[in-house]
Amino acid sequence: MDLTITADGRLQVAGPAGAPVVFHPIWLRERLPDPAVIDPQTGQRLEEAAETPQDLRVTAATVDGTISFSDGCSGPLPAAWLASALGAGAAPGMGAALGMGAPGPAHVHWDGTLHPADFPRADLADVQSSPAALGALLDGLDAYGFAVVRGVPIEMDGGLRLADLLGPIRVTNWGGMADVKAIPNAYDLTMTPRHLEPHSDNPYRDPVPGYILLHCLQNDADGGDSTLVDGFHAAAILARDNPDAFHTLTTTDVTFRYHDDTAFLQHDCPLIACNAAGDVVQVRYNNRTEMVGRLPVGQLDRYYAARAAFWALIAPASPLTLRFRLQPGELLMMDNYRLFHGRTGYSLASGSRHMRQCYMDRDTVGSRRRLLRTA
Ligand SMILES: [Fe+2]
Repeated sequence: MDLTITADGRLQVAGPAGAPVVFHPIWLRERLPDPAVIDPQTGQRLEEAAETPQDLRVTAATVDGTISFSDGCSGPLPAAWLASALGAGAAPGMGAALGMGAPGPAHVHWDGTLHPADFPRADLADVQSSPAALGALLDGLDAYGFAVVRGVPIEMDGGLRLADLLGPIRVTNWGGMADVKAIPNAYDLTMTPRHLEPHSDNPYRDPVPGYILLHCLQNDADGGDSTLVDGFHAAAILARDNPDAFHTLTTTDVTFRYHDDTAFLQHDCPLIACNAAGDVVQVRYNNRTEMVGRLPVGQLDRYYAARAAFWALIAPASPLTLRFRLQPGELLMMDNYRLFHGRTGYSLASGSRHMRQCYMDRDTVGSRRRLLRTA
């Protein structure tokens, strides 16, 4: 591994593809595998990185030797650590120590033509007995935004058998595992036989529940098929075909609200949220609970047009809509930051439709996925 120190004191290393990679001296220094810098037990930083001299320079460096800096400090420079920094086969634990984390699989954008044979899916017994199978399931969930688990016991809290493998469920004011079936005096349209337009769940909460675990106990009524839309795919199409609408939906906060006798939940946020790099990280759509503020009329013109353009992409007639039928004993796990879900209406005259669902937070599921990947 060829090292060069540039004229301005930065470390240059030949990368995996031969292209030089230049490391900032402070970047190296603040994560150096030196017990004076990083606590060996916790992997957490001991030095106050923000107090590192801004003009820090590398003065000498040898692979599997020492790296020295202009303020007189020095530390070890293991080859495996440097290789990890280059992204060339991280040594065990090194990725985390470098602050790089475990990368997730790339998102696979899909549409209504996705064949059921290509759904990420697994049997509960397999993911219970095999960490590798559970890791593969979570990788599929990360890539596609949903996964189907079969063989889940058809009992009231059978869905918790999967949740128990991942971590604690998100308990809300409605409890933990809750019924999704038509009832008299429904407090939410979910609890009626009415069709449900594509939506994300509970956008009025902060944080929004990360994942929905929907467990099918009975589904023999006429109708009641599940629908899914890849909201990231829809957002990408909007950004490509209608950048003004995309900009409007990423920069206009709307209010989502749920209010009853015991809860007043409200979250002001955009329909499409991006990170600092401009990548879409969350989509929201919930016609039942969304209200936009009394913005200047010109701004409202733009918002209503942009909302209509987004809706056209995710509406039931859109080619992005995937439709299928959950069978008893199947559990559909959905990324509530990425997918819009819905259902066709159903008739109680011919049978019944009974689902149970609970939520999990994103850090709970993400933590399990990363642990399984680094095991
Ligand atoms: Fe829902």
